[in-house]
Amino acid sequence: MKMVVAYIRHEAFEPIRQELLDAGFPSLSITEVKGSGRQKGITERYRGAELAIHLRPKLKIECVVETGDVEQVVETILKHARTGEIGDGKIFVLPVEEAIRIRTGESGEDVLQAHTAGDIPA
Ligand SMILES: Nc1ncnc2c1ncn2[C@@H]1O[C@H](COP(=O)(O)OP(=O)(O)OP(=O)(O)O)[C@@H](O)[C@H]1O
Ligand SMILES: [Mg+2]
Repeated sequence: MKMVVAYIRHEAFEPIRQELLDAGFPSLSITEVKGSGRQKGITERYRGAELAIHLRPKLKIECVVETGDVEQVVETILKHARTGEIGDGKIFVLPVEEAIRIRTGESGEDVLQAHTAGDIPA
């Protein structure tokens, strides 16, 4: 199991969410974060004075999937988050040791996403 963590522009989230949902990956978390990349933020001017704004707002997506599904999730994020401009964001893939559905106590890959579980109430 892997966790795909992506820092993206807010505008990219809705098409990513929709495509992941359609592909059988409805389960994810998002957090509004602030961050900087290699440009170390940007510099703006206010009434002649330079203001260093080091942190830019981004959206963080966390999506835990079977290892074999990582490529599909990453490709979906790339497809919608890449504009070609600086600040498009970054994706990290982390190992996940265990997953447990609290309601039932089930564990393992079957609890991660809908497309393998097959027992979702209509
Ligand atoms: N190494 C990192 N660790 C944690 N978060 C990061 C890292 N790199 C980028 N981020 C997060 O991703 C956001 C977007 O990064 P960004 O796209 O600016 O990366 P970059 O390496 O500067 O690439 P680019 O040159 O395309 O801007 C940052 O604001 C930060 O929230
Ligand atoms: Mg950058």
